[in-house]
Amino acid sequence: GGIITIDPGYKNTGSCESAITFLDGEKGILRYRGYAIEDLAEKADFLEVAYLLIFGELPNTEQLAKFHKDIKAQSVVDDDIKKILDAFPKSAHPMGVLASLTNALTAFNPSSVNVDSEEDMYKAIVKILGKFPVLVAWTMRKKQGMPLDYGDSSLGYVENVLKMMFKQPNEEYKLNPIVVNALDKLLILHADHEQNCSTSTVRIVGSSHAGLFASLASGISALWGPLHGGANQAVLEMLEAIQEDGGDTKKYMAKAKDKSDPFRLMGFGHRVYKNFDPRATIIKKAADEVLSDLGVEDPILDVAKGLEKEALEDSYFVDRKLYPNVDFYSGIIYRAMGIPVEMFTVMFALGRLPGWIAQWREMRLRKEPIGRPRQVYIGENHRAFKDISER
Ligand code: CMC
Repeated sequence: GGIITIDPGYKNTGSCESAITFLDGEKGILRYRGYAIEDLAEKADFLEVAYLLIFGELPNTEQLAKFHKDIKAQSVVDDDIKKILDAFPKSAHPMGVLASLTNALTAFNPSSVNVDSEEDMYKAIVKILGKFPVLVAWTMRKKQGMPLDYGDSSLGYVENVLKMMFKQPNEEYKLNPIVVNALDKLLILHADHEQNCSTSTVRIVGSSHAGLFASLASGISALWGPLHGGANQAVLEMLEAIQEDGGDTKKYMAKAKDKSDPFRLMGFGHRVYKNFDPRATIIKKAADEVLSDLGVEDPILDVAKGLEKEALEDSYFVDRKLYPNVDFYSGIIYRAMGIPVEMFTVMFALGRLPGWIAQWREMRLRKEPIGRPRQVYIGENHRAFKDISER
């Protein structure tokens, strides 16, 4: 073989060519299929963005209506999924449950595995877009001891997600346009981010021609970690801890800078963004608006703003180009919407779903080879075998 170069964390290694998301970390630019994230967050809805990411163009009215209709036709899951859900302990983390249920969908939909034609891919795609919100809502409701039910096909995609999550038994669910708008925006901001850890996972698992649902389940597991999607839960827990500890942000800044302390300022720093995260700018503004529109006063918003201000003036953070990322303010909005902290990363997964699908589809359509990195071996040289009696 040739010379193998090692690049831990793939900091300078490209894994593919892609026409989906453009990201310039120095300038803080993020575009899906050429459209600025700021425009999409302001003007599009989540389903339009999903279509755009997956198929490359913004849909016209008929295309969007057909896409939505095809998704709605697939928004029922096998009743046995409820039995699987029943078997989890109440303490189970929703991300583990979601990954398991997503994988389980493969068993109930075996025809979605061998998808070599675009038509079969389309079927698998609308299936998962229809069923995933059911899994998301049920994961939360089961934990809360609430009855499981299906949504309302007369509603929009995001409206239906909210209703499935929050409808109380024997009560009419009233959609709040502020909440719908905020969730739409959050999901759009999370919808794709080129070759991040979970997306690379989906592509590499999918590159073995494992099915779409199995590839997505792996992506969910990758997203779970606190250095990636799990950061949104970790941020909120950190902000709560700081507040309970008297709101002394300086103490936590010192901990974050202390190299002998494993504590990191969660929601700060990014592998690619080295000036600002454009999603964080949009989310910070949205957090202010949502809290004021809903009339929620949350003291942890002040803790967050205090931390941000201090970090932006601190040479440790400035020198290392550490800025608030997308997850720094998202949890504050989720919390104002009444979503439990343990569900935050699940909401991220719901948002990232179209991105994972788009990247998987692109990889398969481009007939990319199986992902198989090499290594540099640093272990023992050849050794003579020792019988167990001599060890
Ligand atoms: N708090 C304190 N120090 C930090 C932080 C932080 N949050 N992030 C990075 N550093 C330091 C790090 O210790 C290192 O210092 P030194 O050069 O002295 O050793 C330097 O900054 C570079 O960090 P790195 O870990 O080499 O950078 P990376 O590109 O490998 O990691 C990161 C990027 C996002 C994993 C990291 O910044 C981090 O752990 N942040 C906190 C977790 C977080 O918010 N993750 C969400 C990321 S955005 C959404 C998503 O991906 O899901």
